[in-house]
Amino acid sequence: MLTELIYKVFVKAISPILHRPMIIGAFNYTPFEEIFRKAMDFVWNNRLEGDYLEFGVYQGKSFAAAFRFAKLFGLKSMKFYAFDSFQGLPKISGVDAEGFQHYHESELSCGLAEFKKNICGRGVDPRRVVIIPGWYNKVLNEETKKKLQIKKAAIIMVDCDLYASTISVLNFITDYLQAGTIIMFHDWFSYRADPNRGEQKAFREWLKKNPSITVTEYNRFGPEGNSFIVTHISE
Ligand SMILES: C[S@@+](CC[C@H](N)C(=O)[O-])C[C@H]1O[C@@H](n2cnc3c(N)ncnc32)[C@H](O)[C@@H]1O
Repeated sequence: MLTELIYKVFVKAISPILHRPMIIGAFNYTPFEEIFRKAMDFVWNNRLEGDYLEFGVYQGKSFAAAFRFAKLFGLKSMKFYAFDSFQGLPKISGVDAEGFQHYHESELSCGLAEFKKNICGRGVDPRRVVIIPGWYNKVLNEETKKKLQIKKAAIIMVDCDLYASTISVLNFITDYLQAGTIIMFHDWFSYRADPNRGEQKAFREWLKKNPSITVTEYNRFGPEGNSFIVTHISE
């Protein structure tokens, strides 16, 4: 706690001089959290306005890491949207049920109350968080969009493992993209990196359906992750 406090005070004091607060932050994150440090640095450096959307929050580990680095970079207007069933994975069907299996129905379940407790325990400010509980094929629709006040997304984390879940997510996020939006896929190389399964298949099909969107590959992370930046989107 004391180290964290000293660290925060130090960052705050020296960042106006350096104009680059994360030079100091370089010492204080796990390898998994590094992707968030880089992404928030990108958002800060490119003066990108927009929110953080995470699809598949489970126990809140990655969600809290995103918040922490947004705070460190002073991204004060960023809001944090958490989308999850809070009942784990849905029934596995279609292409997700064929061949080599990673996942099972109801796996990776963390209830809403526990998620809230976890993120608050990790320093997330609940006033900047919006939680959307429910199965993606039911809640990711126009009605939800009207209720939410998302204008644009700066960073989107897709961590929902399955092709079927990812398809629902990608169709939902299209309206929120802008040049510079980072889309992270936590499970890009799942299914033994088979391009015809999981997030890879969903992303390829979605890009084909939306020729106005162009992306460039960004950082790979962890054992299975990959990320992209939207370079252009026609209005
Ligand atoms: C691997 S976990 C997320 C881990 C989290 N991002 C972290 O790093 O701490 C996958 C999550 O996706 C959610 N999920 C997957 N498919 C879903 C769907 N179709 N609808 C709602 N939630 C889904 C599960 O409930 C689970 O919490």
